[in-house]
Amino acid sequence: QVRKITCCAPINIAIIKYWGKLCEVENLPLNSSFSITLNYHDLCTTTTVTTAPSYVKDQVYVNDLWQDINENPRLKVCFEEMRRLARKQAISENAAAKELMSCSKKIHVQSVNNFPTKAGLASSASGYAALTFALGQLLGVKGDLSGVARRGSGSACRSMCGGFVEWLKSEESKNSTAKQFVDETHWPELRVFILVVSSKQKSFGSTVGMQRSVETSALLKHRIENIVPHRIKVLKQAVLEKDFCLFAEICMKESNQLHAICMDTFPPLRYLNNVSEKIMNFVYSYNERCGSTRVAYTFDAGPNAFLFTLAPFAEDLANQIYQVFPPSKDCTDTFFKTTEEFSF
Ligand code: DP6
Repeated sequence: QVRKITCCAPINIAIIKYWGKLCEVENLPLNSSFSITLNYHDLCTTTTVTTAPSYVKDQVYVNDLWQDINENPRLKVCFEEMRRLARKQAISENAAAKELMSCSKKIHVQSVNNFPTKAGLASSASGYAALTFALGQLLGVKGDLSGVARRGSGSACRSMCGGFVEWLKSEESKNSTAKQFVDETHWPELRVFILVVSSKQKSFGSTVGMQRSVETSALLKHRIENIVPHRIKVLKQAVLEKDFCLFAEICMKESNQLHAICMDTFPPLRYLNNVSEKIMNFVYSYNERCGSTRVAYTFDAGPNAFLFTLAPFAEDLANQIYQVFPPSKDCTDTFFKTTEEFSF
């Protein structure tokens, strides 16, 4: 009997950034991080997994492109880990031999992103979260699977939870998991705009980038030891109290620090471009004109901006953005979604 599961996982935006690994193979982070998962169906990965007879091979297609699992250790480890967990669970539940056999059934995967891949919009995060969740459903694996998604791509573990999410650092793989801090209904006034400055593939992936930073940046060590633990504590307080001003300050300082570390890396990593710089200046002058903090930016390893604001300010902000950064004709260089669509 053929079984088929389809699942959709969204992207997440890090407020406290993950940058640096303790273990490359396991994707164990050097610091805990904190993110928001977007509850928006136009920025997600939809993955369908289907059981196939045991005489064929596992097959994976991402955006219609065939992926060689044997050449992709991240994909391979997700399959292996999910089958290991399925087998372990079946044995502990004294499952019949037939059910044990189903763990070794081959699996076909079709995965589609509805946004630019590798453009700094965390496609690997939603991709591995969708794959892990779908495989879990297909193989009947219960429990927290964020540790498996983490093996695919570190930040993917955070997309396994909705709302406001913390990914804990730990030297032990089983403890480095993602936990929901508060759910998606906690701060309904919060809005996000995503300004796609460039939808081109980034020149330097996060994996290699953070590896180089760990090897060469003294600032990264200082951040991990002296900055992040306190910042996460304050950010959690800001989120609990819905203190936008404090949230915004931490959000922008974190983004700045990530890119300061990138510049402190040798040779430096430059993810931001002139338009990103203009967006940052726009945010500062907008807040100054308003006489209070109404918008905050954050950038991951790419030039695209994520702007946070609150519902009452969203319309005016959208108008200002359109004036200062008019969308390009084909809407690929600068790409907007309206604020209501981005509520989460
Ligand atoms: C800047 O999760 O893409 O977006 O674990 O090597 O796959 P790998 O890296 P990845 O790194 C994300 C880095 C970041 C910050 C963040 O999302 O926390």
